Amino acid sequence: MAGNWKMYKTVPETVAFFEKFNPLVAGAKHCEIAICPTFVNLSAAVEATAGTNVGIGAQNLYWANEGAFTGEISGEMLKSVGCQWVLVGHSERRQYFGETNETVLKRVLAALDADLRPIICIGERLEEREGGWTEAVLLEQFKHGIGGLSVDQFAQIAIAYEPVWAIGTGKTATPAMAADAHRIIREQVRLHFGLEASQSTRILYGGSVKPDNIKILIAQPEVDGVLVGGASLDAVSFASIVNF
Ligand code: PGA
Repeated sequence: MAGNWKMYKTVPETVAFFEKFNPLVAGAKHCEIAICPTFVNLSAAVEATAGTNVGIGAQNLYWANEGAFTGEISGEMLKSVGCQWVLVGHSERRQYFGETNETVLKRVLAALDADLRPIICIGERLEEREGGWTEAVLLEQFKHGIGGLSVDQFAQIAIAYEPVWAIGTGKTATPAMAADAHRIIREQVRLHFGLEASQSTRILYGGSVKPDNIKILIAQPEVDGVLVGGASLDAVSFASIVNF
């Protein structure tokens, strides 16, 4: 159960969130919990979750270890502040910051090199769904962004299926749509990495997940978890999603 805070919350707001959130999820044994704040909040978030069952992740990383790359952050740097996870290829990165399937793969490899666990985001845009290209888009994103990993590398990642038209719009994919997309992705996992990997991998659904729709989404056997944006900013709301 992962939360993506995007560009929200200051350091004091981050600390206040975890004071409220940690006790609410302390009993959650059924899942792993990860929250991905902005870079400048990572240290505060790691400190605020020390000794708890909440892991911290970043929202992006650059693929070089260090160098003249003004404004970028490396996997090693993220690891050094205590991150365990990192989102890669979120649709907002693809849409506004020129991320491609090729740069997604570079970032995933860099994350794995730094011993971080990438959550790789894929999903179709509205016009792609309406044009009937959802499957083709997912196959393309999978092939170029994930398919080049080794079986061992693949075991360290999670995949988030996030239909772009459902992100921050209040429109959730129907449970059947989510399950169909997850099935397509899982079949790719089987073809590239084998049956066992396809059964043990975790495919998260993301896009307007809220406390009131978690029940029908997670009821789909294909949906192994969720990646939550807006509803992860409120401690009570995200805790009720985690604890469902
Ligand atoms: P949302 O965002 O839950 O606000 O739709 C999901 C995401 O972008 O990961």
